[in-house]
Amino acid sequence: MTSMGPTGAQVSHRPAEIGLAFNAGRLRAQREILLEKSSVPLSSIQSQAVSDVSYQTRTRRIEYPTTLKGVNVVTEKQNFIRSTYPSSSDYLNELARLRDLYRSSPIPGQEFIDQFALYATPASLRRFIHFDRLYQKILDLPGLIMIFGVRWGRDLSTLHGLHQIYEPMNHTRRILGFDTFAGFPSVTPLDGSTAVTRPGAYSVTDAYEEHLAEVLAVKMRLGSYAHIERFELLKGDAAEQLTQYLEKHPETMVSFAYFDLDLYEPTKACAEMLLPFFASGAVIAFDEFIHPVFPGETAAARQVFGNGARFRRVPMRA
Ligand SMILES: C[S@@+](CC[C@H](N)C(=O)[O-])C[C@H]1O[C@@H](n2cnc3c(N)ncnc32)[C@H](O)[C@@H]1O
Repeated sequence: MTSMGPTGAQVSHRPAEIGLAFNAGRLRAQREILLEKSSVPLSSIQSQAVSDVSYQTRTRRIEYPTTLKGVNVVTEKQNFIRSTYPSSSDYLNELARLRDLYRSSPIPGQEFIDQFALYATPASLRRFIHFDRLYQKILDLPGLIMIFGVRWGRDLSTLHGLHQIYEPMNHTRRILGFDTFAGFPSVTPLDGSTAVTRPGAYSVTDAYEEHLAEVLAVKMRLGSYAHIERFELLKGDAAEQLTQYLEKHPETMVSFAYFDLDLYEPTKACAEMLLPFFASGAVIAFDEFIHPVFPGETAAARQVFGNGARFRRVPMRA
């Protein structure tokens, strides 16, 4: 059994639980799903995590955070949140007010970037902390970090920050980001039928990836060992890009895969493709696990890892 901390968080990631090497044939049918209600007040749950689980097999850890994202990005999603979760229009209005204050901030340019926490919501701070906790689990593992679903780049950038903080000299720990940068290419019936499960959802502005690459390049130059390439953005269908990448790089080993594509087909294809490339004990995280808006991601995770694996919550999440 997994021990639970005071917040209902899973506290144990002992190497003994991680096991030695992945071998799908050895997975046992002892699935354990751990879900506990959050201590987050009801009023803030509306835009926060709905459920949060992680997943561990005898031979590897798999983490499943689940979050409702971007309440200020997609109008249909706001409506969805209002209609599906305990919500308050006051909360969304205050969020909009915070956004306006941020945009019209009187803080002068040279200090503005360092003051960003002033405007960060607990939800976005929690996302940082959440990635930090996941990152700490891979420090003793070799291999790349792959993030499936980059969009504007916040998670990719967080991972770069953590890399800079914890292991700037680890030049083999590169961070690969996969995205079409044009939103969902297609959806299947397994992806459900809410307003946001449609081709083109989560698109970004034209040529956004060029802006992102520039931001990341500046951050690399600001960081330690600036000459070491840390990032690679792979634009296009994630499964196609991953196929090509793995063909070109037979040396690949993956310590951390973060799945935030939201959809069944690309999640399943990429997760399956990576099975032989995971380091023992690799962290495999799914952003939309048990998420009612994006059921396809859970379906994919179940199909690839379901047999005999155990789900685990990530600390702090619902
Ligand atoms: C929720 S967003 C990712 C958010 C991101 N992790 C962040 O830091 O905010 C989902 C992303 O998955 C991408 N996506 C979905 N299906 C894809 C596919 N087949 N290939 C590449 N990208 C895909 C979309 O373009 C979208 O940017």
